[in-house]
Amino acid sequence: MCGIIGYIGQRKASIVLKKGLESLEYRGYDSAGIATIDKTISVSKDVGKIANIKWDMDKLKGNIGIAHTRWATHGGVTKNNAHPHLSCDGNIAVVHNGIIENFSEVKRELEKKGHKFRSETDTEVIPHLIEENMKKMGFEDAAFESIKKLKGAFAFVAVSSREQKIMAFRKESPLVVGLGQGENFVASDAYPFLEYTKRAVFLDDNEAAVLTKDRADFYSFDRARLKKEPKILDWDPKNVGKNGFEHYLIKEIYEQPLVLKQTLAQDEKKLKEVASLIQRAPRVCIVAAGTARHASIVGRYIISELAGKYCEVYMASEFQYFVDKIEKGSVVIGVSQSGETADVLFPIKKAKKNGCKIVSIVNVVGSSLDRESDVSLYLNCGPEISVASTKAFTAQVLMFYLIAYTMAYKLDEGKRQLGQLTTKIEETIKSTEPEVKKLAEYMKDKNDAYFIARGENFAIAIEGSLKLKEISYIHAEGMPAGELKHGTLSLVTEGVPVIIIAPKDYTYDETLANAHEVKSRGGYIIGISDENNPIFDVWLKIPKVEPLFYPILTNIPCQLLAYYTAKAKGNDVDKPRNLAKSVTVR
Ligand code: F6R
Repeated sequence: MCGIIGYIGQRKASIVLKKGLESLEYRGYDSAGIATIDKTISVSKDVGKIANIKWDMDKLKGNIGIAHTRWATHGGVTKNNAHPHLSCDGNIAVVHNGIIENFSEVKRELEKKGHKFRSETDTEVIPHLIEENMKKMGFEDAAFESIKKLKGAFAFVAVSSREQKIMAFRKESPLVVGLGQGENFVASDAYPFLEYTKRAVFLDDNEAAVLTKDRADFYSFDRARLKKEPKILDWDPKNVGKNGFEHYLIKEIYEQPLVLKQTLAQDEKKLKEVASLIQRAPRVCIVAAGTARHASIVGRYIISELAGKYCEVYMASEFQYFVDKIEKGSVVIGVSQSGETADVLFPIKKAKKNGCKIVSIVNVVGSSLDRESDVSLYLNCGPEISVASTKAFTAQVLMFYLIAYTMAYKLDEGKRQLGQLTTKIEETIKSTEPEVKKLAEYMKDKNDAYFIARGENFAIAIEGSLKLKEISYIHAEGMPAGELKHGTLSLVTEGVPVIIIAPKDYTYDETLANAHEVKSRGGYIIGISDENNPIFDVWLKIPKVEPLFYPILTNIPCQLLAYYTAKAKGNDVDKPRNLAKSVTVR
């Protein structure tokens, strides 16, 4: 959570930083700020989204600066708590992502020494600590000295008005350095500097970078010099725009046919390596959060069906309580779009220490999860900007098909069949979107909705409900269709929307029987199926495909339903309240 960026070069820093913040806003958007240096440090910051803040761009002079977009952890959403934070004398500015666990202790010590704090944040201890250390040493030494005092998971970037350099430190929160010509960048991810350079150095935990406009030097926290090779990113900066769509979310839903092609283009050697690791492992644990976990549940059904191997799927935040009991040699698969989800990373690191093999299914190349893994499979679905995950889900599910087909020695056949889904996804969008737009008008006034399905589509029921509540703020629950009568049915009354995901497969008859239970309580039935049924009040028609592939299609009307309902309610679709895209706190 929180996006940070630093720039040093010849351009007007405030312009680069403000633009950079826009591409980082998915990480947090309750307040934002910029500090630039032109002999002294000037700051402009406020509460609100980047586009709504009245930036004092005239004040922000100079070619060096740092900026931040916030997702509040310590301290409320106020202008004072917005970053950057300054030292007492205003000569040091810091932006920070993560949590300083011992901040109260450090703050007390600094207050005793006369430091005056202006915010309630944990971050503010950092500029004061550097300022205190600068009584005895230069900026660079003082910054390194300061991290010895800090406990927690953090990434921060600091500047001093006395030196033409940027200091950046990473401990369990992401930071990437962008190497330009006569200019350098550092940010929470590479998007802010993609249009200037594609040469990136990903910092590892306990590593620091010292940037001037012509140099980038890398160190461990104990100041050993590091040689770090830049990666050349093949990301297209055009992908970061909305390309004519009203929101990123709908653009990303529409990108799914293309995503399918990109995800299928996998390195077969790596797929075989993963397949063989899974086949041989005494235990396979798939660890993921939110939408990625729902994709993993589909994955468990697919691997079981196609390759006959049973895998467990853990909610990442709960896996930490079991990880020490997992046998050495087990395979732990981390599934994550961002590769930075702290709930996933924490147990994965433990599993690795305990002798498990780590496989990742990840979108962001060079992310923390990627670097923790023995083998990484990349989703190749391009940047996903909207906070609600859509195309990454589809890519994650596709990856599980590829793994399962490889395990079953049928990869070529599998790829051929999966390739045919491109047109099926397009057909699904086309056939369901007009109906969903009308349905959104009904949904927007509802307080509750339920999603039910059986078999692998049960994962779509819970994914559909997550998407709807996340962006439309309608309370929604998803569950196996057979489970509804065990309690939740008592909540189904006249007009309550129940989305029945009922493809014409081995689950159809039983799911329809559950639909009748709903209907007789007055529920309003929205059927997602390739076959119409008189019980449906609304039919969202999907094309017929092989039963195993239905989850790829049944999910699409659910994504559209969440989007159009949120839009009908006038919500900020791409940046739902209280959420952030990359959840780097536990
Ligand atoms: C929901 C959503 C979240 C993420 C979850 C994990 O739309 O986006 O539930 O799926 O926070 O994120 P990653 O995949 O980055 O680990």
